[in-house]
Amino acid sequence: MKILIVGSGGREHAIAWKIAQSPKAEKIYCAPGNAGIGEYAECVPIGAMEFEKLAAFAKEKEIDLTVVGMDDPLVSGIVDVFEAQGLRVFGPRKNAAILEGSKAFSKDLMKKYGIPTAAYENFDDPEKALAYLETADFPIVLKADGLALGKGVLICNTLEEAKDGVKEIMLDKHFGAAGNRMVIEEFMTGREVSVLSFVDGKTIKCMTSAQDHKRALDGDQGLNTGGMGTFSPSPFYTKEIDEFCQKHIYQPTVDAMAAEGRPFKGVIFFGLMLTEKGPKVLEYNARFGDPEAQVVLPRMKNDIVEVFEACIDGTLDQIELQFEDNAAVCVVLASGGYPVSYGKGYPIEGLDSLKGKEGVYVFHAGTKLDDAGRFVTNGGRVLGVTATGPDLKAARANAYEAVKQVTFEKAYCRSDIGKAIDEA
Ligand code: AMP
Ligand code: GLY
Repeated sequence: MKILIVGSGGREHAIAWKIAQSPKAEKIYCAPGNAGIGEYAECVPIGAMEFEKLAAFAKEKEIDLTVVGMDDPLVSGIVDVFEAQGLRVFGPRKNAAILEGSKAFSKDLMKKYGIPTAAYENFDDPEKALAYLETADFPIVLKADGLALGKGVLICNTLEEAKDGVKEIMLDKHFGAAGNRMVIEEFMTGREVSVLSFVDGKTIKCMTSAQDHKRALDGDQGLNTGGMGTFSPSPFYTKEIDEFCQKHIYQPTVDAMAAEGRPFKGVIFFGLMLTEKGPKVLEYNARFGDPEAQVVLPRMKNDIVEVFEACIDGTLDQIELQFEDNAAVCVVLASGGYPVSYGKGYPIEGLDSLKGKEGVYVFHAGTKLDDAGRFVTNGGRVLGVTATGPDLKAARANAYEAVKQVTFEKAYCRSDIGKAIDEA
């Protein structure tokens, strides 16, 4: 098969690597891709939002399957454009990707179908939001309705902070049109877990659990980022919790979307908080997590192309997902100054020493080849260095050992990815 991947980050590198393991994959393209993805795929200089150009490319190259990694194109309807042209594509249509594209929609869906989540109110009028805050309990959480690069969530400790937050989101439009509406919700505490799943419109099959580290600095300090590292599985995600979520969260979400006339095909990412009152949904995403994919996919035994096809064909009930009985840790190597401002073009040293090393995977997030053919940095998050091991402790030691081998100017990473497992 000829397969096209849409996206350019560490997640898409992990997807490309996994697709490359499939005996079904003859030729892989990635648009636009990055220098690391170039090892498995031919990178094509078409942007992920250029739907017509992408579809024309898929027709010209007789692509058998397109896999969309990123949220933006999914929420904007890339799948509908491909399907209208008779092209086979893995991912939710626009009317289903709204599960991620509108937090107000997803909150209303959960309320209507009794899926556990934080108590909330939706607002499209800033005056009403401000009035609501006057009698609210703090801390409280403000969320821009639309996509905001993972940054549209503000946790406010006081009324003053919350009022400033409403202004930032709804009046000053810090997150653009994403802030035309907002959700104000109850602050929850507990462990966070990410559970990714494959869905074919009616059947859902969950992958192994993972946990993300969103803050830039050790001890969960510093600014929110796209993700500084992950580990899988989460030792806090027990069999009992899984059974509860299967019954009250996962299948009910898939059934709710079908009942609303929005059947979901693709990946649903459940962002969960394990609260004292049981697991609750923090958020839904309509795609693989980044960097969750970088620890989940290296542990997956199945041929991923078969799973993608089963989701498209509605035959996921015939697939049994299987994962290695091991663990994986991914440490993100970022460029100094990320997530605010950072330089680009720094040469990356040491990649060769990790090449072909058993149980070590270097996923490129923001890299390119310079004119001399050297790998240089081309983004804030530069590399995701994943290592597996028989258990989380071993995987963590292996990941940090591997990260030491790679350097570039002003590189930094957190030193405590996966440390939470010590408390398990
Ligand atoms: P989201 O994009 O909705 O996952 O929010 C980003 C992060 O904000 C989450 O991973 C949580 O750490 C935090 N967060 C979101 N909603 C809540 C909430 N209701 N209570 C506490 N923390 C939250
Ligand atoms: N790692 C969180 C996300 O992909 O949204």
